[in-house]
Amino acid sequence: MNPRPWRDAWWDALYGPDGFYRRDEGPAGHFTTSAHGGLGAVLADVVGRLADEAGVCRVVDLACGRGELLTHLHSIRPDLELVGVDVVERPPSLPTSVDWLRSPGGSAVPDELHDLDALVLAHEWLDVVPCTIAEVDADGVLREVLVDEAGTETLGGELAEPDRAWADSWWPATEAGERVEIGLGRDLAWRDLLSRNRTGTTIAVDYGHTKATRPTEGSLTAYREGVLTNPVPDGQRDLTAHVATDSLGADEVVTQRDLFHRLGLTATTPDHASASTDPLGYVRALGRTSTIAALTDPHGLGGFHWAVTRHTRGHA
Ligand SMILES: C[S@@+](CC[C@H](N)C(=O)[O-])C[C@H]1O[C@@H](n2cnc3c(N)ncnc32)[C@H](O)[C@@H]1O
Repeated sequence: MNPRPWRDAWWDALYGPDGFYRRDEGPAGHFTTSAHGGLGAVLADVVGRLADEAGVCRVVDLACGRGELLTHLHSIRPDLELVGVDVVERPPSLPTSVDWLRSPGGSAVPDELHDLDALVLAHEWLDVVPCTIAEVDADGVLREVLVDEAGTETLGGELAEPDRAWADSWWPATEAGERVEIGLGRDLAWRDLLSRNRTGTTIAVDYGHTKATRPTEGSLTAYREGVLTNPVPDGQRDLTAHVATDSLGADEVVTQRDLFHRLGLTATTPDHASASTDPLGYVRALGRTSTIAALTDPHGLGGFHWAVTRHTRGHA
């Protein structure tokens, strides 16, 4: 196939008829996120608390994989109404009380999502919303990067509007070889999601960067069966690029570590004296402490960005 813009090749590779995210094994077959296993139980606790803070009893998990986080939420917070949204049919393992919506994928969300009064969470969604990729050529001109099926890149024409204006405002690049992952499509996808929620809170959680921390060589990469690999748009691997969270225009962007600390979740070692009086409780508490330590590690998951917008009725 002829080289074409990364954005288009990326979309087909993840969401086309044979796209990576339509595969039976789901994302958890290829990589682990904070929604899985023991981490997911603590994340679910946080999401439940944020729903309470927002005064809503419904949680919509957009881009929920196979509903791993919702399954945790269902067991610890059976009082909440839960809705999962992803690009596949409802997973058979999902608890029956959890609602499910099928989505087109990428920047598009289902029409059925509107007038929500909910905590809407998009955990590791925006990093898989395909974006335009540009690179500064030897003459200092920012050009669109094209890619073929084998992953070989070439430079196309000069970056056009409105991507160009986005780059000028949010990610100016002038040195030959510098790359820019244009966040405009993600900003618009986020705004669309916001417009679906009436009251409550909308949150996007992702690897993020801001003007001070842009990855000047770009961050586009791929995962396959747990291994970091070359970005090739072949439908066999995940394709992901970190998110410019400052351009989203959220009410606030806070690190996962700071947010968890604000909610009182710190990795405090339990009192050793309780090991003899309540050994099982002590072991459980130790496990929770190490899980919170992993989720708040400033050099790991704790560095994730939480982009948060709180809604008041009638105002997106
Ligand atoms: C990196 S995985 C994250 C899964 C889960 N949220 C987690 O953290 O484990 C990205 C997921 O986003 C889904 N996705 C991408 N675009 C979507 C969209 N517009 N609507 C619903 N799901 C989407 C993919 O199908 C995939 O399951």
